[in-house]
Amino acid sequence: MTSFRFTRRGLAVSALALGAIGLTGSKLLKEPDDSLPKTRFPEGFRWGTATSAYQIEGATAVDGRGPSIWDTFARLPGKIRDGTNADIADDHFHLYKEDVALMKALGVKTYRFSIAWPRIFPEGRGTPNPKGLAFYQRLIDELLANDIEPYATLYHWDLPQALQDRGGWQSRDTAQAFADYTAHIVRGLGDKIGRFFTLNEIHAFVDLGYGKGIHAPGLTLAAAQLNQARHHAVLAHGLGVQAARANGRSGLKIGPAENITIALPDVETPQNIRAAEHATRELNAAYLTVMLEGRYTDAYLKEAGADAPRFTDADLKTISTRVDFVGINVYGPGAFVRERSDGSGYAQMKLPASYPHMKSPWLGFAPQALYWAPRMLQKLWAVKEIYITENGTSAADEPDEDGRIDDLDRVMFLRQYLDQLQRAINEGVPVRGYFLWSLLDNFEWADGYETRFGLHYVDYKTQKRTPKLSASFYKKLIERNALV
Ligand code: NOJ
Repeated sequence: MTSFRFTRRGLAVSALALGAIGLTGSKLLKEPDDSLPKTRFPEGFRWGTATSAYQIEGATAVDGRGPSIWDTFARLPGKIRDGTNADIADDHFHLYKEDVALMKALGVKTYRFSIAWPRIFPEGRGTPNPKGLAFYQRLIDELLANDIEPYATLYHWDLPQALQDRGGWQSRDTAQAFADYTAHIVRGLGDKIGRFFTLNEIHAFVDLGYGKGIHAPGLTLAAAQLNQARHHAVLAHGLGVQAARANGRSGLKIGPAENITIALPDVETPQNIRAAEHATRELNAAYLTVMLEGRYTDAYLKEAGADAPRFTDADLKTISTRVDFVGINVYGPGAFVRERSDGSGYAQMKLPASYPHMKSPWLGFAPQALYWAPRMLQKLWAVKEIYITENGTSAADEPDEDGRIDDLDRVMFLRQYLDQLQRAINEGVPVRGYFLWSLLDNFEWADGYETRFGLHYVDYKTQKRTPKLSASFYKKLIERNALV
């Protein structure tokens, strides 16, 4: 029989009662049982964090860095929610050693950062700036000295302004300029970098920057021009892969870091799963699908009609140059779908007004996205090596009177998403690493500094970094290589 009684120390439950519910006293006091095989992530799984140059570095006019489209855009009135820019940001350019120490304390084994193109080529192309490369050499040496493997993104949205002045992603020349810049980087840094990512989230930077006008450079192009800009960006990816292989060391590894739009089956039936696969392929037609298949889907070309991009067969071959792995950034649900009752494809559902989201309204809570996204890569395109290059959440982080930041919502988010990632891995989906976005609170593009994504709270007045509760959670998880 179960018996409870209150003592001076609190509630006492009889040993008999614990036995009845299957828990012995000693088990209750122990931490979760790691000997159970399914609770662990694979041996050697790469736990990491991610950042990008413009969002953290600051020092935008130091050591010969040229202006980027974001420097220009952030100065346009009304474009950044809190009226800020990233001239200083997290001042990581100067505080990088401190930031590497934060990673070391977390126990991450890998770090994904981006290289600022305008530091390397202030004019976008032409004469390189050796001081720009020197910064990344210092950063990489510091990482290696701390046993953290550097993974570098070549383009995370900070296009040199000089290239924008010549058409930016609307110009095919930008794709070639990206390849030339890539060649220079792999020659200068390639020996020490574990993996290179070409362009971060083509879908986001082209659509938000050239379609919706809410990111740099703030354009609202018509469909035909927008499709052409998308084409140039995927072409840059392919040319970049080729340039890296031609100029880098043998064994260099390179792939994309794309924000896959993931279609989720509303209820997991074989029919709905089929519909979700079909939808995922179409929703990514101008990005991952063409990159991995070397063709634009019939439905995409039909829908675009006269607005379809102009391209050659040679372009398609270049765009789909073999990659060594695929990186995906996973946040909210791209879409919920089900099979049409007549079996003719998929029906996309409207999110109910009450669907939960995190602090950012666009970040709907859908942990199963971290199961389905890698699973779809394996199913649709037989990808053999997958990285979650970003996952994480914004939260309304506020230090309490003791200076603690108890971001319980971020911990809840990570626990649920990572549980679904583990589900995929347990089913044999080849996910090799996970990069939590982000190491630090930082400049969240058009949202400025109000939206915080970091494991570490940044006081922008003092540049003091404080680990949040989520940092303790992540540290523990890495230490045990298991969800806790
Ligand atoms: C994706 C982008 O790559 C990154 O720059 C951004 O801060 C996060 N999503 C959060 O919005």
